[in-house]
Amino acid sequence: MVDPVLELNYKPVLPPKTDYGIGLIGCGGIVQYAALPSYRKHKLRVVAAYDKQRPTAEIVAGEFNIPKVYDSVEELANDPDVDIIEISVPPKFQPPLAKLCIEAGKHLLCQKPLALDLAEAAEIVRLGREKGVKVAVNQQLRWGQGIRAAKDLIRKGWIGQVADASIEVSVNTPWNMWDWLAASPRLEVQFHSIHYIDAMRSLFGDPVWVTSRHARNPLQGTMIGETKTITILDYANDLQALIADNHYNYSDDYFAIFRFIGTDGHITGTLGAMYNYPHGREDTLQWSSQRYYKDKRFEAKLEGKWIPDAFIGPTASLMQAIQEDGVPETDAADNLNTLRIVEAAYISAAENRSVRLDEVQAVPR
Ligand SMILES: NC(=O)c1ccc[n+]([C@@H]2O[C@H](COP(=O)([O-])OP(=O)(O)OC[C@H]3O[C@@H](n4cnc5c(N)ncnc54)[C@H](O)[C@@H]3O)[C@@H](O)[C@H]2O)c1
Repeated sequence: MVDPVLELNYKPVLPPKTDYGIGLIGCGGIVQYAALPSYRKHKLRVVAAYDKQRPTAEIVAGEFNIPKVYDSVEELANDPDVDIIEISVPPKFQPPLAKLCIEAGKHLLCQKPLALDLAEAAEIVRLGREKGVKVAVNQQLRWGQGIRAAKDLIRKGWIGQVADASIEVSVNTPWNMWDWLAASPRLEVQFHSIHYIDAMRSLFGDPVWVTSRHARNPLQGTMIGETKTITILDYANDLQALIADNHYNYSDDYFAIFRFIGTDGHITGTLGAMYNYPHGREDTLQWSSQRYYKDKRFEAKLEGKWIPDAFIGPTASLMQAIQEDGVPETDAADNLNTLRIVEAAYISAAENRSVRLDEVQAVPR
């Protein structure tokens, strides 16, 4: 018999009904190497695709057996066979598309960041509520195998009260995969650390204080925004969470690690995807506990990779919310708090101070 304490619960759970018709708006990189491979594995029903570049949509439809390619967003949004629309376009285009899809009465899975502007994100939430559709955000690191398993261990009390948390990433990121990022004045926190911020929130909730420092790298050329950041989240119970990212580590000593230290034990692991993005490798996980199995160290072999396997998480959670009339785990309203932390990080860096999270409010336009 498997010891229920030792059994790790980290795999996304699909709800009973998964045959919703999914329509794609934007068929670029993340759809091709993450969403669609994951959906194929779980036999989800992708029924229609639209991309501003029609040939991109046609190639993707051919490769993944998607029956319909549309010439406009309106056609896709009004297709009665489409129940859920997944938007994966550069973020400045996402809010108007989201509003159009909500107006058409479709449930939505948006990409992170939900919007570049907090008020615009709040407006999407407001419209979704008004129209009675579910809106979720693709913050899938919550379902990253290492983070999810760590959450399970923390929930089961293996390490007691967590007093120190860190995610530290120092890698060589292929920024050229996203040419539209070069002109963005906000870069690392808004597009990358947002994953770690959301993962910390999934483990520990919302901090009281946010402190962030941002830097550029001499090698980043014409890219405007910050590429090296340190963000500290201070919690009411004295937990301090550090997120430290450097995307220009050309040495062979690159790493992407997480560490959670509690009153009764510790958890450490690696985020495999960051070792060779987007191919990556499986996460690793080790832990110890003074509460259970004193003086023993544990190591888990985790199945799946952040890309593509974690991508089923937000979609499964959205489908579950639709059939139970519940709330998806990465509900857009909840995601406003991830975006508030992002906003607080930029205020902190610009004004050289710590920012109380309640100073930053998400008010719809
Ligand atoms: N969740 C994650 O881990 C993750 C990882 C990478 C990117 N992303 C996000 O996904 C989104 C897309 O990123 P990507 O890497 O696929 O970018 P990409 O540049 O590879 O693809 C974007 C696609 O959108 C299409 N497009 C642009 N404007 C459009 C419009 N108005 N209507 C329809 N199609 C349009 C482009 O033709 C292109 O095919 C971004 O918001 C990005 O932040 C998320």
